[in-house]
Amino acid sequence: MLWETRSVFEDQVAAVEEASKRRGKEHIDLSLLLDGLSSEREQGITIDVAYRYMSTERRSFIIADTPGHEQYTRNMVTGMSTSDLAVLLVDARKGLLTQTKRHATLAALLGVRHIVLAVNKMDLVEWDRATYDSIVSDFVEFAGKLRLSEVMPIPVSALTGGNVTEREESTPWYQGPTLLGHLNTVHLGSTQNHVDLRFPVQTVIRPDLDFRGYAGSVASGTVRVGDAVAVLPSGQQSTVSRIVTYDGDLSEAGPDSAVTLCLADEIDVSRGDVLVRVNNRPELRRRFDAMLCWMDEEALEVGKRYRLRHGTREVWATVESLNYELDVNTLSRADSTTLEINGIGRATLRASGDLPLDTYQRNRRMGAFILIDPVSNMTACAGMVRRTVSQSEESARQKSPGVVMESTGVALDSRIEAFGHGPAVVWLTGLSGSGKSTVARHLERRLLEEGVRAVRLDGDILRHGLNGDLGFSAEDRRENIRRVGEMAKVLHDQGIVAICSFISPYRVDRNRVRSLVPEGAFIEVHIDCPVEVCAERDTKGLWAKAMAGEIENFTGVSAPYEAPSEPEIRIDTTSTPADTGAGILLEAILARIR
Ligand code: ADX
Repeated sequence: MLWETRSVFEDQVAAVEEASKRRGKEHIDLSLLLDGLSSEREQGITIDVAYRYMSTERRSFIIADTPGHEQYTRNMVTGMSTSDLAVLLVDARKGLLTQTKRHATLAALLGVRHIVLAVNKMDLVEWDRATYDSIVSDFVEFAGKLRLSEVMPIPVSALTGGNVTEREESTPWYQGPTLLGHLNTVHLGSTQNHVDLRFPVQTVIRPDLDFRGYAGSVASGTVRVGDAVAVLPSGQQSTVSRIVTYDGDLSEAGPDSAVTLCLADEIDVSRGDVLVRVNNRPELRRRFDAMLCWMDEEALEVGKRYRLRHGTREVWATVESLNYELDVNTLSRADSTTLEINGIGRATLRASGDLPLDTYQRNRRMGAFILIDPVSNMTACAGMVRRTVSQSEESARQKSPGVVMESTGVALDSRIEAFGHGPAVVWLTGLSGSGKSTVARHLERRLLEEGVRAVRLDGDILRHGLNGDLGFSAEDRRENIRRVGEMAKVLHDQGIVAICSFISPYRVDRNRVRSLVPEGAFIEVHIDCPVEVCAERDTKGLWAKAMAGEIENFTGVSAPYEAPSEPEIRIDTTSTPADTGAGILLEAILARIR
């Protein structure tokens, strides 16, 4: 691709032609273009990633070329951490090897959702369709277990260039695009987060008494002059008064812009602080779960103190426990007490200070961190935040005294296989009259039509029996949601999709339910509808009564509603009909459970 898009310098071309001739090769040996890298490799020098640049009429590309062997896992992690798409090369003669499975697993782990499965050396198997098909079906079967949005298989020959930039005549059976054609047109969505403003302050610029600015790069979201911002972790607030750059002031700046922000008020801001929008804050946490990719020769030591760098902030941190080590070849989880170089595992960490954390899934920049060995100063590992642990969640679940749980029965895996789908907890939260139950009923019907095992739990229904002893004080609502959450967990563990519609006005109560099921299984849906609209609809006549003071603790009138700050999905029922809303949910759920 570099060759055919003329992305190589003339002198490099000449050198490669020369070297190929000298070695008596019939074709130009294009691999020589990447020679710098392979010689480093032969010498055993610790290489990072080789970046190459290429552009076509439609797009510009940065190619992160990383060696595929297991011992270079950390290089691959580095390369993939900023990539939108991964091209996995498979040798058609060898079939699907473990290493490609590992590459796909790493891609999924690092949030690279688009995969091209380039089945290479097809010329050596006479462009045989059956060979190609069997590799593709092996891969698709494996990739089904990973969270990827798209896999595009393409039969290619890097040597002859077939289906790389030009269509190959020997593959009339292949209707898809060429590799470059696909790269030029594939719809990537956005891997950048444009929603959540996060501005880690790199330096405070204060040349004289008249100017004070905070320099850094916008990690995610967009900042505008006039935005109300908070400084984390202190929480002090101010307004953005100027966005200064070398080329003059801007009115707004998006992800990756390097700018200097000035604030309207003199407040305390220093390196390591993060500026965020007042009503869109990451959680401040000391304790969190993360996937770690170990990069240091010195193995992980649980309990040892490391420096943790997150954005521009550095704190001390320890790995409290290693939950499991991931075998990236088979996706199986093994108990382990350490991670060696290139090892990957899930761990719980504790930091010495509050960190404004987002999950990696939501924000690749602010959900990532590194650990540094304080003695050698080596980067010990790259980490991706999976889940933040709040104080209330740290307190254990209730259990009856003296009860021991025995794990018996049919394993969830067997159920998933039998049902043809995995479980989920779909949590619809919103005001009374917002349309939760209506959307839930539509969703239940549509899931059943899809052959999905779904069960619906509803506030009004459960408050007629199981929860009939509860009222609407904050305490009673907490108990209501606790019981429902535990039920949803039981259903989840039996492989079922639980659709729960409850006002559930308190964030902590909802988050506690989230923590009961594995990461990704809890889908929080904000059924969003303004108070005035709910009050006007008033299908049950409750709003009128509440406003007349006849009902106590009525959410939206005399009791609070804490809207989710980061729901997986938000549905505005003033503009979205219930069935359309259910359709949106259906799609999102199927994408997760199938
Ligand atoms: S929650 O707050 O504990 O999650 P839940 O969803 O179970 O509430 O029940 C809400 C239903 O109870 C409403 O749909 C409404 O019909 C009824 N209800 C009766 N009193 C109240 C009240 N004070 N606040 C809210 N809903 C009430």
